[in-house]
Amino acid sequence: MDDYSALGTDFAWGVATSAFQIEGALDADGRQPSIWDDFCRTPGTIDGGDTGAVACDSYRRWPEDLALLNQVGVNSYRFSIAWPRVQPTGRGPVNEPGLAYYDRLVDDLLAAGIRPFATLYHWDLPSALQHEGGWTARDTAYRFADYAGLVAQRLGDRVSDWVTLNEPLCSAWIGHLEGRMAPGTRDLRSAVYASYHLLLAHGLGVEAVRAAATGTPSIGIVNNLSPCEPASTSEADRLAARRADGHTNRWWLDPISDRGFPEDMVALYGVPLPQVAGDLDTIAAPLDFLGLNYYMRMRVRHDPSVATLGYREVPVAGAKTTALGWEVHAPGLEELLLRLTKDYGAPAIYVTENGAAFLDEPDANGYVEDSDRADYLLEHVEAMSSAAAQGAPVKGYFAWSLLDNFEWSYGYWPRFGLAHVDFESQRRTLKLSGEIYARLIREHAGRPQA
Ligand code: FCB
Repeated sequence: MDDYSALGTDFAWGVATSAFQIEGALDADGRQPSIWDDFCRTPGTIDGGDTGAVACDSYRRWPEDLALLNQVGVNSYRFSIAWPRVQPTGRGPVNEPGLAYYDRLVDDLLAAGIRPFATLYHWDLPSALQHEGGWTARDTAYRFADYAGLVAQRLGDRVSDWVTLNEPLCSAWIGHLEGRMAPGTRDLRSAVYASYHLLLAHGLGVEAVRAAATGTPSIGIVNNLSPCEPASTSEADRLAARRADGHTNRWWLDPISDRGFPEDMVALYGVPLPQVAGDLDTIAAPLDFLGLNYYMRMRVRHDPSVATLGYREVPVAGAKTTALGWEVHAPGLEELLLRLTKDYGAPAIYVTENGAAFLDEPDANGYVEDSDRADYLLEHVEAMSSAAAQGAPVKGYFAWSLLDNFEWSYGYWPRFGLAHVDFESQRRTLKLSGEIYARLIREHAGRPQA
C-alpha cells in the first residue's frame, strides 16, 4: 500500500453527509418544507415513493452518528445546514431551535477533536422561496446571503471551514432542465437563470460569511466535475465532448475563476444572461479552496436528436460500474485534481465527496463485507495521492457517505454508506469499507511528510 506521504500531516480525513438525506424530523422545532419535501410528494418522482420524512433519523440520533465518526476515527466531518430549519420561510429572523441543533452539533464535533466543514446549501431550498420563483429569481441569491450571514454569525466563532453551495450543476441542470430533481422543472431558460443566480448567491454568500465569521474563515464551493471524453476520434464526437465539458465543468469553474461564463456555451444555450454591472466580480469572489465531488467520467457521442446540447452519454465498453451504472474510474480523480491545479490555479482543493453505491448484502448481524466499496475507496485515495505528488494542493478527502441514506430521486435503494443502516430499526453497523477507511486513517494520518 502506498504511504500517501504526499498528502501531508494536516490532511483532513473525513466523511460527508447532507441534511435532507439523513436528518428526517421534517416538522421538528419549527422547520417548514423545502423543495425536496414537495418534490417527494409528487407522484412518480422518487423510486418506490420514498421520502425524506424519516431518512436516518439523524436529527434525533446525532449521538449515534457522532459515535460512528469516532469509530472511523475521522478528523473532519462535512455536513450541511438545513436552511428551512434556520429560516423556515427563507427570510426573516433565525428560528432559534433549528439553529441550536447545529450549534450543539458543532460543539460536539469540536469536543471530539473533529473539524467541522459546514455546507450552507445542499439543495433544500425553503418552499416559500420557491413560490416566489426559487433560483430563477434574483432575489433568492440575496436571501441566501442573509441566511449565510446569520449562520456564520452564530457558528463562525467555531467553524472555520465553509462551503457555500453543493453542486450547483445539480440544482440548475438536473432540477430545472432535466426535471429529475427538485423543483422538477424542464425548461432551458429557467435552468440558465437558476445557474446564474446560484453562482451569484455563492459570491454574495462568500462575502456574507467573511463579514460575519470571526477570524479568517476558509471558504469554497463544491462542484461535481467529470472528465468528458469523446466516444470516438471523429470530429463530431470531439466537439460533443467539448460541449459536455462546457456544460459539466467550465460553466461552473470559469465564472468563479474570474473568466466569465464560457462564450461557446452562452451561444449554445441561446439564453441571454442578466447584464448587471458588478455581478461577475461578485461571482468571482476570491476563494480559499475548491471542493471537488468526484463520481465518474463521461464518454459522449454526438447526437443531433438531443435538444440544445446535441450529445448523449454512452457506456465505456467493459468498464466496471456501480449499482447506479456509474463507471468506476479512479484516474479521473487524478486528472481533475491536476486540471484544477494547472488550469484554474486552485489555491487548495478538498475532495468533498467520493464514493460508490453497491448492492450490499448484510449478514444476520447487519454486517456488510463490501470489499467492492473498500477497493473503490483505496483506489481513489491512491489516485488523489498521486495527484498530490505531482503538485495538486489537495488538503482533504471526504468519503460519501458516513451512512446509507436518502439518495434523492433513487430513494433508499442505492447504498453509499461506510456504515449500513437498517431503515426498519435505524440500527447502524460499520461495514468492511468503514473499517478499512478507519485503518487507513490510523496508519496514514499524522505521518511525517517524506
Ligand atoms: C452527489 C450529492 C450527494 C450524493 C452523492 C451520491 O451528487 O452531492 O448528495 O447524493 O451525489
